Amino acid sequence: MQQHLVKTRLEPTRVAPDTFVIHDHEGEDTGPVSVALNSMVIRAAEPVVIDTGMAENREQYLADVFGLVEPADVRWLYISHDDVDHTGNVNALMDACPNATVIVNWFMTERMGASLAVPPTRQRWINDGESFDVGDRTLYAVRPPIFDSPTTRGLFDPTTRVYWASDSFATPILAPVPDVSALDEGFWTDGINMFDQYVSPWVTMVDDTRFQQTVDRVEALNPRVLTGCHTPVVGEAFVTRAMAATRRTPTAVVPPQPGQAVLEEIQRAMLVVAD
Ligand SMILES: [Fe+2]
Ligand SMILES: [Fe+2]
Repeated sequence: MQQHLVKTRLEPTRVAPDTFVIHDHEGEDTGPVSVALNSMVIRAAEPVVIDTGMAENREQYLADVFGLVEPADVRWLYISHDDVDHTGNVNALMDACPNATVIVNWFMTERMGASLAVPPTRQRWINDGESFDVGDRTLYAVRPPIFDSPTTRGLFDPTTRVYWASDSFATPILAPVPDVSALDEGFWTDGINMFDQYVSPWVTMVDDTRFQQTVDRVEALNPRVLTGCHTPVVGEAFVTRAMAATRRTPTAVVPPQPGQAVLEEIQRAMLVVAD
């Protein structure tokens, strides 16, 4: 008999004035851990949507975004990098928002090819270290310490001090929760180390002083809240701990990734369920 899987629904979390994390996740009930798949909305004078989640969550993603901002009011769609968990609904959102410009960069357009069905006339290219004006504030593109695409830029809003970290500060979760205060602290910080090394295996090979400088750069922004695709919201009380955990990643010992033996376990479980 087929198991019926119910997906937990989390309402968008307000992390600062007019700033909301939109939640999604995968792995619930099907694996030992889940992974958050978030995106964000800033209701600036010119409203900004940040990343677009997975294609399979399109209906809920669009409902969540448009529960916060009218489609015609969306002015900017900021894509942090070209992975499918960040770009799954880029074309759908741009189709629904006639006044929106998508913020990517040259290399993203190269890497996405025809899968990015947005004409150059509706694009703007912003690289690490650059900024753009959204009417009542200027937003800054800042590369996070951990990243799995060369195109990655996070996004910092100096008016709220919220930093969208893309794939950085990520952790597995046992169940969907809106913020990291609900996690066991050791599980959380070990999770950051594991996620970091899985996403960026190069982090164990680089000069540690140089790596620490990339954390220094984000810390120097003095972020009040860290948000990202694969982490519950990191509130003010947890920012310092998230930075410290990231600094330990290069030398942390983390569990190996699941291999063929785990796949065979999953296959056996599926056969049992199918019986
Ligand atoms: Fe990624
Ligand atoms: Fe990601």
